[in-house]
Amino acid sequence: MALVDTKEMFKKAYKGHYAIGAFNVNNMEIIQGIMEAAHEEKSAVILQASEGARQYAGQPYIVDLVKTAVKQFPEVPVALHLDHGASFEMCKECIDGGFTSVMFDGSKLPYKENVKITKQVVEYAHAHNVVVEAELGRLAGVEDFVSVDAKDAIFTDPEQAAEFVALTGCDSLAIAIGTSHGAYKYSGEPYLDYERLQKISDLLPNYPIVLHGASTVIPKYVAKCNEFGGKVLGAKGVPEEMLRKAATMAVCKINIDTDIRLAMTAAVRESIYSKPDNFDPRSYLKAGRQAVKEMVIHKIREVVGSSNSI
Ligand code: G3H
Ligand code: 13P
Ligand code: ZN
Repeated sequence: MALVDTKEMFKKAYKGHYAIGAFNVNNMEIIQGIMEAAHEEKSAVILQASEGARQYAGQPYIVDLVKTAVKQFPEVPVALHLDHGASFEMCKECIDGGFTSVMFDGSKLPYKENVKITKQVVEYAHAHNVVVEAELGRLAGVEDFVSVDAKDAIFTDPEQAAEFVALTGCDSLAIAIGTSHGAYKYSGEPYLDYERLQKISDLLPNYPIVLHGASTVIPKYVAKCNEFGGKVLGAKGVPEEMLRKAATMAVCKINIDTDIRLAMTAAVRESIYSKPDNFDPRSYLKAGRQAVKEMVIHKIREVVGSSNSI
């Protein structure tokens, strides 16, 4: 199977009350680890590259590594997605370069500007059989002191979400309901606004919703990083059962980067620390790749729930 867009995988996920994992990729070992996991779990997968990933590896390397992985595992439906595209031009570069899905992230722009550029990206993407994810609302963790009014200001407004989708024609929408990026998400109790998610899906029936910032920051991996010389302190993420619940609702794509970074870094640190005489990068990168694979298997089983869906 060649690379696919996300339409079919989202349709099946919506009906089956699960989500598709969208994992960030930056190099060969990460791509291999994720693909081995998707193959073993018999699950579709989204491999996503950020602007930083494209700068680090170079877009053609990412595209060709992913195409090679698709050849190795032809039964796994794989979408190659631009994560947080910052401009029409960046989305166009990815569409022209072989991506099957792009995100235009206009969430920090004034609403009208977000609508305008998202629409422009959708027109170009759809003419090239590529799908578009857009974002509305400000992604931020919920602190204990955030009042209901403040939540209304930063979280996605359901009516505006429905209007935004109708105006832009975007294929999926990332919303803000309490998740945030990185390893430090909540200073208080973790919180996801399911009521808001339900309202959005009532207004947009059968429409795929995306959750960014969905790493859990599993204490075991933080501890392992720190045991082998790291200093990752006070990190806290979204509990996995909360994400699992969102995946049974309208959420069809769950973005995970930080948990893969932590797993890979913990394994590489352990490998380097426990074999001080080794200086062959293959040794510690192999440990890192295996850790990516195990983390993605865990996410597919316990968080997105997409095992045995192909
Ligand atoms: O949401 C952002 C992703 O975690 C990618 O991070 O921009 O450091 O590659 P990055
Ligand atoms: P995390 O930092 O929670 O892994 O979020 C990743 C993400 O949203 C990528 O777009
Ligand atoms: Zn994100």
